[in-house]
Amino acid sequence: MKTLTINCSKQYEIAIGSGILYKAGRCISKVLPACKICIVSDENVRALYGGEQSAIYQSLLSAGFDVYEYTFTPGEDHKSLETAGEILDLLANSRFSREDALLALGGGVTGDLTGFAAATYMRGIRFVQIPTTLLACVDASVGGKTGVNLRAGKNLAGAFWQPELVLTDTDVFTTLTEDLWQDGLSEMVKAGMIGDPSLLRDLADGDIRTMTGDALTDLILKALAVKARIVEKDERETGVRRLLNFGHTAGHAIETCSGYEISHGRAVAAGMLIESAAAEHKGWASKGNAELLGNLLAKLGFDVSELLTQAGSIGAAVLAETAKGDKKAHGDTIILVYPMRPGLCKMHELPVDDLEDFFRSGL
Ligand SMILES: NC(=O)c1ccc[n+]([C@@H]2O[C@H](COP(=O)([O-])OP(=O)(O)OC[C@H]3O[C@@H](n4cnc5c(N)ncnc54)[C@H](O)[C@@H]3O)[C@@H](O)[C@H]2O)c1
Ligand SMILES: [Zn+2]
Repeated sequence: MKTLTINCSKQYEIAIGSGILYKAGRCISKVLPACKICIVSDENVRALYGGEQSAIYQSLLSAGFDVYEYTFTPGEDHKSLETAGEILDLLANSRFSREDALLALGGGVTGDLTGFAAATYMRGIRFVQIPTTLLACVDASVGGKTGVNLRAGKNLAGAFWQPELVLTDTDVFTTLTEDLWQDGLSEMVKAGMIGDPSLLRDLADGDIRTMTGDALTDLILKALAVKARIVEKDERETGVRRLLNFGHTAGHAIETCSGYEISHGRAVAAGMLIESAAAEHKGWASKGNAELLGNLLAKLGFDVSELLTQAGSIGAAVLAETAKGDKKAHGDTIILVYPMRPGLCKMHELPVDDLEDFFRSGL
């Protein structure tokens, strides 16, 4: 097991390794005294890693916790105020106090939802994250952004609320589908482009899907270290944290316009390519990064030409119109992130009216 400490408004540890679900109770009892704890998971994750006979449930019982469970229907549609309300009602009906806690066992949907419930129940109780997707592990579980979707858009209601501890058992990745691997991989490529070129080399050198032990743990820690450094500098996203949006302006628009047919990871992969190519075309960065990214993504199993064709068929005008509705647009301008070289990205404030032209030059 290896650890990384996050130092923001709260200090907490991320622990990663094989078999952690069996030791989770003991690890959690170091940061939380025995209390009521409610494991939140979706039905898929509960079937795989939760339930009363599971390693996590039993290890919490052994450590003296009074364990409750809440299970919801999988999917982004259920990252909602309704689901959060059900969690809050369960806590209230089970007489959870401010000393009790929540535990998110699942992907980013579960983590965001559970964190939001933790941030709001009695004005804030403690929670632990156990991410089970690669994306949740390298991205969503760290940094304290929690929230739910509103009918008007994704993540429109939320709070910054940091966990007490993040535990990742790398054994849970054995059940990830190819789509789920690609969702995580594109965020790892993003992390490498923003802050660590050696992460990009490591990703290219071996297939993460077949890695185990320290090789896998170290690779994940590299991606986490990039996010940790940024979040520590700018917890509330008023400055450098916006670098984490690299690929996401075009990416979110592609995801939305495809009716979510194109997964988040693939859409962000296409978004990184488009934003890099456009920045090169505009002369903001020297040439080569888009090509390097394209080669790496292809090596990692992304169908790059298909992705760009799909984005092209949506078209720059529709993508720009969709991106303008995104909450990353601040009034008349939008911050775009682009690579200067692997490991170094910059931000550029662009008038929203120029977005269509920007996307067109990247497509
Ligand atoms: N808070 C943040 O900083 C942040 C950052 C990035 C993304 N997010 C959020 O994360 C969400 C996406 O995360 P996600 O892709 O993990 O979504 P998710 O939680 O819906 O998980 C995706 C699917 O994988 C299944 N699953 C989870 N673990 C599994 C496993 N080990 N094996 C097999 N199947 C498994 C789930 O049941 C679900 O069907 C979005 O809502 C996004 O907004 C948040
Ligand atoms: Zn993302």
